[in-house]
Amino acid sequence: MSDFELNPLYEKVIDGLLQQHYSVVDDFFSAEEIGILRSSLLAKYEEDIFKKSAIGNTVNTQVVAAIRGDFILWLDETDTDAPEGIFFNKVNDFVQYLNRTCYMGIARQEFHYAVYPEGAFYKRHLDTFQNDSSRKLSIVCYLNDEDWNPEYGGELAIYLPQPDGTEKCVDVYPLPGRLVVFESQLLEHEVKPVKRERLSITGWLKTGGF
Ligand code: OGA
Ligand code: MN
Repeated sequence: MSDFELNPLYEKVIDGLLQQHYSVVDDFFSAEEIGILRSSLLAKYEEDIFKKSAIGNTVNTQVVAAIRGDFILWLDETDTDAPEGIFFNKVNDFVQYLNRTCYMGIARQEFHYAVYPEGAFYKRHLDTFQNDSSRKLSIVCYLNDEDWNPEYGGELAIYLPQPDGTEKCVDVYPLPGRLVVFESQLLEHEVKPVKRERLSITGWLKTGGF
């Protein structure tokens, strides 16, 4: 382990995961990096290539609209010249660190941009409902403007089962640069209705199987 260097930022994420199954860090990406990613997202959103989100293929679209109202664009990690390389370089480094320190066995990943237009929400859910138990960690990185105000809503509510059978709920506001990581198979969560357009990158770190 002589060439191993402790990374305080990654350790902070891991500590949260170990202690409470989720973690929130505010300094994972710099303001400059967030600005570049936000611009790239907005440029692509203008091109009209985002798709209405779905929740599987057996549910009709009306029901889907009652569950989630965001628009998404899956990211192509092989496009190495893209501004999204900023995101993937760091995430890949973090994944290596996770596998090395926590033996997580992360082998794959998938990420998309997400835009929640005014009024959109995503009802309470678990991230593993698409017949896919390979999702281990959910990651959300918010790309909103610096002047994002809690009054705009759109908070991520994470439900935490307590040992006494009750549950606790924590509200995470979508502040720019904030990274939220949580256990995909364990924690139900929802996105509260938003009063302003809400921007993020969301994705999953997955193990090899299904
Ligand atoms: C999701 C999700 C949370 C957020 O896309 O599955 O729960 O805060 N997103 O955007
Ligand atoms: Mn989710």
